[in-house]
Amino acid sequence: MSGLATNYQVCIAGTGSYVPEKVMTNEDLAELVQTSDEWIFSRTGIRERRIAAEGEYTSHMASNAARKALEQAGLAAEDVQLIIVATITPDTLTPATACYVQQQLGASSAVAFDISAACSGFLYAMKICKRMISDGAFENALIIGAEKLSAFVNWEDRTTCVLFGDGAGAAVLRRAEKGEGAIVATEMGTDGNLTHLLNIPGGGSALPITQSNVGDHLATLAMQGKEVFKHAVTRMKQAAEKVIERAELKSEDIACVIPHQANLRIIDAIADRLSVPEGRVFVNLDKYGNTSAAAVAIALDEAHRSGAFKRGDHIVLVVFGAGLTWAAACVRW
Ligand code: UT7
Repeated sequence: MSGLATNYQVCIAGTGSYVPEKVMTNEDLAELVQTSDEWIFSRTGIRERRIAAEGEYTSHMASNAARKALEQAGLAAEDVQLIIVATITPDTLTPATACYVQQQLGASSAVAFDISAACSGFLYAMKICKRMISDGAFENALIIGAEKLSAFVNWEDRTTCVLFGDGAGAAVLRRAEKGEGAIVATEMGTDGNLTHLLNIPGGGSALPITQSNVGDHLATLAMQGKEVFKHAVTRMKQAAEKVIERAELKSEDIACVIPHQANLRIIDAIADRLSVPEGRVFVNLDKYGNTSAAAVAIALDEAHRSGAFKRGDHIVLVVFGAGLTWAAACVRW
């Protein structure tokens, strides 16, 4: 590796996704907590979500999504140089889930680590890898958003358990050849003053799970939904606007907007504020609910495979999550 400063373009060479087989519908949830399909669908846009099987871990879902992305990119696992898994539901607190994925894929040459940025993790990983490839440190990278949120949901709390699901999405990034697409602009932000709005309070060093608090659901997701909703709309709109502006485009130039899949009302509010032409916003949360870091990655793969955009089109990815964190990317496909 030379010490010369470089600035390679970085493209997305392949995408993949995986969701577990088991479907949990809103009607199924109405048997667990006091809720209804009518409430869940009208407030969120969610109809059903996927739930990982017993013995199916975040790493397994991540590896399944990664294999599809590698296949599409025509990249052999042993040639992968860097793996980043974005997750808040790792297999174990340590080692990183990315290490299990490296082993499962047989990607023995890859450096592998996790990042924790909640629902924003996949785009944080994209930005990190873009920089590491563009400066010449790596030629390719595998980024994965993967979550087994069903293991961290309080199944007795109707205000949260109806929202989340399990799954994984992946993308292969690599140095672009002349004439290929590129990640054109990126944006990331964090507001650590608002950590209390969405968190898993227990199970870390601040509040370990002990025999006396084990029944208190401390290691499950807690959210002040209304507050999070307001910040999500503002921050995602601003982040999307920034990358569109940096790419020297207008919202009508964007072929497809792929937002974090948390709530259809949030997605509609952003589309409206950005004045994105009708039918250009990709939505799949009706099928999967909110899969945190996996959501935008699964949506990217489904949008790509369904022909929602084509070579040469500009797309915008935009996310928001606990932290609070947010991020966006404008990609020329
Ligand atoms: O991925 C990270 C980012 N996360 C998000 O972006 C989530 C953002 N927040 C949201 O999507 C929404 O705030 C929620 C979907 C979580 C909640 O929707 P809301 O319109 O803000 O409802 P709410 O929390 O104000 O609750 C309204 C009512 C309450 O009853 P009262 O106090 O009005 O009598 C709740 O107790 O709905 C009740 N409620 C439910 N009823 C039936 C809350 N959850 C349920 C439920 N089924 N599952």
